[in-house]
Amino acid sequence: MKIYKDYSLLPYNTFGMDVKAARFVEYDSVEELTGFLAGHEDVFPCLHVGGGSNLLFTADYAGTVLHSAIKGREIVGETEDWVDIRVGAGEVWDDFVAYAVACGWYGAENLSLIPGEVGASAVQNIGAYGVEAKDLIRFVDTVCLETGCRRRFANEECCYSYRESVFKKELKGKYIVTHVTFRLGKRPAFRLDYGNIQAELGGAEPTLEGVRQAVIRIRRAKLPDPKLLGNGGSFFMNPVVPAEQFEALAQRFPDMPCYPVAGGRVKIPAGWLIDRCGWKGKSIGRAAVYERQALVLVNLGGASGKEILQLAQAVAHSVKDKFGVTIAPEVNII
Ligand code: EPU
Repeated sequence: MKIYKDYSLLPYNTFGMDVKAARFVEYDSVEELTGFLAGHEDVFPCLHVGGGSNLLFTADYAGTVLHSAIKGREIVGETEDWVDIRVGAGEVWDDFVAYAVACGWYGAENLSLIPGEVGASAVQNIGAYGVEAKDLIRFVDTVCLETGCRRRFANEECCYSYRESVFKKELKGKYIVTHVTFRLGKRPAFRLDYGNIQAELGGAEPTLEGVRQAVIRIRRAKLPDPKLLGNGGSFFMNPVVPAEQFEALAQRFPDMPCYPVAGGRVKIPAGWLIDRCGWKGKSIGRAAVYERQALVLVNLGGASGKEILQLAQAVAHSVKDKFGVTIAPEVNII
């Protein structure tokens, strides 16, 4: 286990904020984590980070930052049709996807190149191109921060919805994910109906590796590489509005894209709303709206978290003014 004081969080946030944690703790097993918690009633306030691809630090963190280095992948169940694989929370998400594809297992390929770690995938319910982590997750193994007890959550207990889970809501900050068990298919099954995957494949017969590479190309074309330009992926969630509000908006803006969701509600791409407000490529100080995807805010170099937040607020205000729609951050602001 590693414990550091006044530790730079630069490698732990893709926005590139050079902030410090008063204490930083990295553990590489459940036993190390529970051992640390047993001896440290002073663990609060605390924040658990993964790859930091969905975090915006606006100041130094005065408490304890925890990071999992729990690695490993273990097959825990298998039939002719599927395989259940239990993965350590500290594994890099895209390494897991690459591994699944190399093994010939179906289900994770549309989630290629999403930054971050496996533990966060189960908290955030990451998603792309018509697939969400919740579609693959069977169990989430956790440790309770207060009691140090282990608890396994079945998929249904995680209350998953679009970019939401019980770990972000009712149980926020209460449980640490240590392992996630995914069920992947052994028989060919692709989701190619979303976005331009089909077009990117160019009529070729889909294969696991082919779909993975198509998704990687699409993402690289639209989303900035955090190593080159600090960012947290989509800064806002796509708003979901009641049908009546959508109808009224569609009358005024007939070309507005939309996706119907449960309960007769409609999801509108926040990127389109922001784009229509004229923000694409605009900046305030060293914080900018990415020129190729308006949903992404970028650090042009040396921006503070507060500067990024100011830009985010200005963007959200103009969307509210023009469309009457509230957009909420997907990124966690600390
Ligand atoms: N659009 C614009 N202008 C823009 C951006 C988008 O007009 O600047 C329009 C597009 O033309 C399209 C629609 O908005 O009609 C949706 O855009 P896109 O397909 O790029 O997807 P998104 O809704 O912007 C979501 C996820 C992404 C995920 C993609 C693909 C959220 C908040 N974001 O983006 O996830 O990769 O779909 O499935 O749901 C992330 O969460 O960090 C992330 C990148």
